Amino acid sequence: MRKLAAALTTAAAIAATLTVATTNAQAATPAPGPITAPPMGWNSWNRFGCNIDEGLIRSTADALVSTGLRDAGYKYVNIDDCWMAGSRDAQGRLQANPTRFPGGIRALADYVHARGLKLGIYESAGTATCQGLPGSLDHETVDAQTFASWQVDYLKYDNCNNQARPAADRYRAMGEALRNSGRAIVYSVCNWGQEDPWIFAQQVGGVAWRTTGDINDSWGTMTSLLDQQAGLELFSRKGFYNDPDMLEVGNGGMTPTEYTTHFSLWALLSAPLLLGNDLRSVSAATLSIVENADVIAVNQDWGGSQGRRLVDNGDTEVWGKPMSDGSFAVVLLNRGASATTVSTTAAAIGLGGSSQYTLKDL
Ligand code: GLA
Repeated sequence: MRKLAAALTTAAAIAATLTVATTNAQAATPAPGPITAPPMGWNSWNRFGCNIDEGLIRSTADALVSTGLRDAGYKYVNIDDCWMAGSRDAQGRLQANPTRFPGGIRALADYVHARGLKLGIYESAGTATCQGLPGSLDHETVDAQTFASWQVDYLKYDNCNNQARPAADRYRAMGEALRNSGRAIVYSVCNWGQEDPWIFAQQVGGVAWRTTGDINDSWGTMTSLLDQQAGLELFSRKGFYNDPDMLEVGNGGMTPTEYTTHFSLWALLSAPLLLGNDLRSVSAATLSIVENADVIAVNQDWGGSQGRRLVDNGDTEVWGKPMSDGSFAVVLLNRGASATTVSTTAAAIGLGGSSQYTLKDL
């Protein structure tokens, strides 16, 4: 068995004994941001790439409702690359691809809003997106105004074709444009961990920043992204999150146990939980992973730190996250190919002073 997720709960008094890493970044306590927990939703890229259209977005919104995912917390319906036409209009504004999105983005926003959901969109801080469509570099003001006029709620801002201009400048320009747009738009910085986004992203209005290159639907890639998160826990705080990329749960390249591991770890890391699978045909097995309310609660809670690696014994690791109720969430991770026993103790994870604990397998 690759993974066991559990929370050790103690008497409330034990909360005081938790030691939580603090850093200068946290100690500086910058102003609170626009969100209070990692964003949850769906994004089109991992499963569909450029093969998207407004019918897919509408039926995904419907599926979020009918499967119970919306009510489990998945609110954002995020359209990734390839939504736009190949050129701007006569006024220099972005326009939706007329074949794939003939009704336009505003109509889609109305559709998802009517279902209690929010709409996200994608652009790049470069001259073109990663798929060669018009980029936002030096068009930040007009593009942020366009997104606001369409009632967009979330922007994923990518890093392709960036002309080697400094990331902090490029991402600040869009952050300011969004702030001046008159609409609260959640700003997700997607520059693949380049130029220390964990430092600059918070300063330019970003609520999450990609820490790595792209995920793909394999155990090897997922665990390699995991390894790149170790140490970055110093930079996240409530409302501002490291983003190890979107979820692959349900896309077919990993076993159910591996997907459970992927989801448990992303939850523990306080990562954005953006589903990347086809929700129109989602299986009960996949839903049972991503609708696990206890694991989602580990993700959404802030007890002073995101999850971090506590023990690294090669094939076996212990990861843990303090919870605001004084409990401690733990992932016991077996990365090896054979069954093994992974254990920890209350003392080893920083709990102490109590003669008894309650253990819950999430
Ligand atoms: C980059 C991003 C991905 C996706 C694609 C779209 O690779 O990191 O998440 O948005 O671009 O082209």
